Amino acid sequence: MACLIPHLFLFLPSIIYAQSDSMLYIGSSLIAGDPSFSPWRSPSDEFAFGFKQVEGDLFLLSIWYNKLDEKSIAWYAIHDQNPAPRGSKLEVTASSGLLLQSSQGGEPWKPSPISGVVAFGKINDDGNLVLLDSNSTTLWESFKQPANILLPTQKIEVNSLLSSRKSQNSYALGKFQLRLSEGNLVLNIISLPSTYTYEPYHVIQAYEGNQIVFDKDGFLYIMQRNGKRVNISEPESAYPTNAHYYQVTLNFDGVITVSHHTRNPSAFNATWMHFKKIPHNICVTMRGNYSSGVCGYNSICILNNDQRPSCKCPPGYSLIDSNNKYSDCKPNIQPICEGGENNLTNNLYSLRVLPNTNWPTQDYELFWPFTVEECKNACLLDCFCVVAVYRDNSCWKKKLPLSNGREDKNETSVSYLKLSTSSFGQGFDLPIPKGKKKPNTLVLVLSTLLGSFALIVLILVSLICRGYTFNHKEKLTGDFHPRESFGSSMRKFAFKEISEATNQFEEELGRGSCGIVYKGTMEVGPIAVKKFNMTEDGEKEFKSEINVVSQTHHKNIIRLFGYCDENKTYILIYEFMSNDNLARFLFSDTKLSWDIRTKITYGIARGLSYLHDECNTQIIHCDIKPQNVLLDEYYNPKISDFGLAKLLKMDQSRNRIETNIKGTTGYIAPDWFKSTRVTTKVDVYSFGVLLLEIICCRSNGEDVEVSEEGREILVDWAYDCLQQGRLNVLVEGDMEAIDDKERLERFVKVAIWCIQEDPSQRPTMKEVMYMLEEVVPVSSPPSPYPFNSICSQVSSM
Ligand SMILES: *[C@@H]1O[C@H](CO)[C@@H](O)[C@H](O)[C@H]1NC(C)=O
Ligand SMILES: *[C@@H]1O[C@H](CO)[C@@H](O)[C@H](O)[C@H]1NC(C)=O
Ligand SMILES: *[C@@H]1O[C@H](CO)[C@@H](O)[C@H](O)[C@H]1NC(C)=O
Ligand SMILES: *[C@@H]1O[C@H](CO)[C@@H](O)[C@H](O)[C@H]1NC(C)=O
Ligand SMILES: *[C@@H]1O[C@H](CO)[C@@H](O)[C@H](O)[C@H]1NC(C)=O
Ligand SMILES: *[C@@H]1O[C@H](CO)[C@@H](O)[C@H](O)[C@H]1NC(C)=O
Repeated sequence: MACLIPHLFLFLPSIIYAQSDSMLYIGSSLIAGDPSFSPWRSPSDEFAFGFKQVEGDLFLLSIWYNKLDEKSIAWYAIHDQNPAPRGSKLEVTASSGLLLQSSQGGEPWKPSPISGVVAFGKINDDGNLVLLDSNSTTLWESFKQPANILLPTQKIEVNSLLSSRKSQNSYALGKFQLRLSEGNLVLNIISLPSTYTYEPYHVIQAYEGNQIVFDKDGFLYIMQRNGKRVNISEPESAYPTNAHYYQVTLNFDGVITVSHHTRNPSAFNATWMHFKKIPHNICVTMRGNYSSGVCGYNSICILNNDQRPSCKCPPGYSLIDSNNKYSDCKPNIQPICEGGENNLTNNLYSLRVLPNTNWPTQDYELFWPFTVEECKNACLLDCFCVVAVYRDNSCWKKKLPLSNGREDKNETSVSYLKLSTSSFGQGFDLPIPKGKKKPNTLVLVLSTLLGSFALIVLILVSLICRGYTFNHKEKLTGDFHPRESFGSSMRKFAFKEISEATNQFEEELGRGSCGIVYKGTMEVGPIAVKKFNMTEDGEKEFKSEINVVSQTHHKNIIRLFGYCDENKTYILIYEFMSNDNLARFLFSDTKLSWDIRTKITYGIARGLSYLHDECNTQIIHCDIKPQNVLLDEYYNPKISDFGLAKLLKMDQSRNRIETNIKGTTGYIAPDWFKSTRVTTKVDVYSFGVLLLEIICCRSNGEDVEVSEEGREILVDWAYDCLQQGRLNVLVEGDMEAIDDKERLERFVKVAIWCIQEDPSQRPTMKEVMYMLEEVVPVSSPPSPYPFNSICSQVSSM
């Protein structure tokens, strides 16, 4: 008996604080792994809050469904590293609310900061844990600091997000996020361990959304600012929320599931039923240019029948973390040349065929048209090529690490994976041709002579020349296939489909020299359909445009949904821009406000800067003018019409002669007329003219038709006004602009810098952006035209 007394003593504090109800009082606490502390429970016992043992001897501070056998976790504190060790303590305090202290020191988790004094807390029957002050004002709630799950009545506002778990077995922070971004619901990956966000892999567009709502009846939708809903998922009518729990989960594999579970604990085989999954096929929607994708690097994603992805390493590769199938794979033997060229031509490497498999990013070379054999040889003979992807006469070489790998029935590409023959004895596709054999193509001869580096350069050169001249030399037969990297977002449409979508090309939106644009409607919403003339030029512009636009992804560049090229009919399908083009607003009575005009200016500058500096291949638009800047319903500008654009992979001076002058008079830089090489500075020039037009709401192009010298008028006039400090005259009494004098002056100065006759004097678009955004100061520009310029331009025409 006597020996029991000390124990009683020890247990005394716990008995005092042990909770049996839903209220959390200041000073009450829980110790992880100590059964004498019982968790808090909601009034009807639906949810409980406390420590839950996970991952061995670790304890997760969490809220769980208290009536379900499997005790599914509905919320948890996302710990910096691992869940808390045994003996860690949670205390309810007045100043910070929940204070979690690890038994090994430190605070493994903190609630978001609280402003006010906590008087008490409670766990509600909806699963929300709230902390309140003495006036019962809510200071903190678990619904506002969510983990990976949304419960009915919970919302995601602009500054909160769901984060996935690291893996099926780990509650550590995973790489997937669900959030609101620019008014849309987006799913994106972060670059762990940082929180750097990659571009979204799935977007549900709402444009003006400001809340993601999971309502009490199980409807999931985005609430827009104007009070309208963009529906995402509705509950299954046979499973009403009064008899079923509902939840939305962002899973460790990046898929969102909406699920229900009977509330009846004794129901036969009761389990979570996942009735809705987003996105539909994560393996193919994933195509970011930087992250590894759903799976780790070098891995291959395969969609299971339940619409969830699984990952596998390709043959010859194995998991770096053998406990996590979703992690990176490493090559067992480096497929990079060991010992140089000899090994390449000595049967030490072979190719393994992987049907329906593709790694759509990370290509460093594209050959077209190529046969399968040429493609395979090109990879075998290249030290850096680890896989060649072949589809429709196109051959892409890829290097390590491979990302976004997928195997899918609908994937028409075949991958040829390069493996070292010393590690694998069988299952190879055609072995490499011996160096001694007579090579059957020029490529092979050259490669043996010059080595593969020189080969790469040569092929590149020949490819570029080919790209530049095929309009003249080659009759294209068969279908045209755009760059594959974006193939997953760009679809090939049948002519019939487009004809239906446009109601037999009924509504005309506009006409250009190369074709006609029609309005249409598809599931995605309204579309713009550009039908090119069935001429050589039409075909040429179609190809140029599809090649360029399919490589871009920027909010200020028009987005291409797909294309059609049946029987010499060339069609591109674009997102529809409800506000037509900028020319419509600049040169008519419906003047746009200064505010919108500045916003448009920044957008165009960003778009051009992206084309020049941020794409894999430098893109020169060559025809920047207001007619080619489209506006969406919020007047966001999007650069369009890439029919004359140029892709520059390297010095293009040799191709200069073949490039016809085709830009639009009034916007063409003087360098076009000289035999200097064309650079991005021609776009800078056109942007300068456009900027003056945006500032003055007056056309430069118009004047040209009146007289050749007229081209000087707007430009000269602007320069004179700037010199004489009479900018108010320039904007013709636009009060908004005059009130914004500093910006106005800055814009005019930048424009004059852009239209300098000497291209080297013009800033780059990046510099333009910095100047416009006042990141760097703008000095006073010199006169744009030295006097001899007009004559020299005219004579060289
Ligand atoms: C409670 O409300 C009263 C009256 O509105 C106010 O004076 C007091 O500051 C509030 N207390 C807290 C803790 O917010
Ligand atoms: C969204 O779903 C609700 C409920 O079913 C319905 O009333 C509403 O019309 C739907 N909204 C749209 C835009 O489909
Ligand atoms: C029991 O489980 C099976 C498969 O898991 C499912 O098809 C069936 O609908 C479930 N039964 C009920 C009553 O939920
Ligand atoms: C070929 O590569 C192996 C390693 O894979 C290396 O040991 C060998 O020296 C190389 N052969 C030649 C001829 O360089
Ligand atoms: C393949 O594509 C077709 C048509 O686009 C689609 O209906 C089908 O679901 C796709 N199959 C897979 C496995 O993605
Ligand atoms: C990555 O590619 C996307 C297009 O898919 C593009 O928008 C983005 O700017 C690229 N990122 C960089 C840094 O180039």
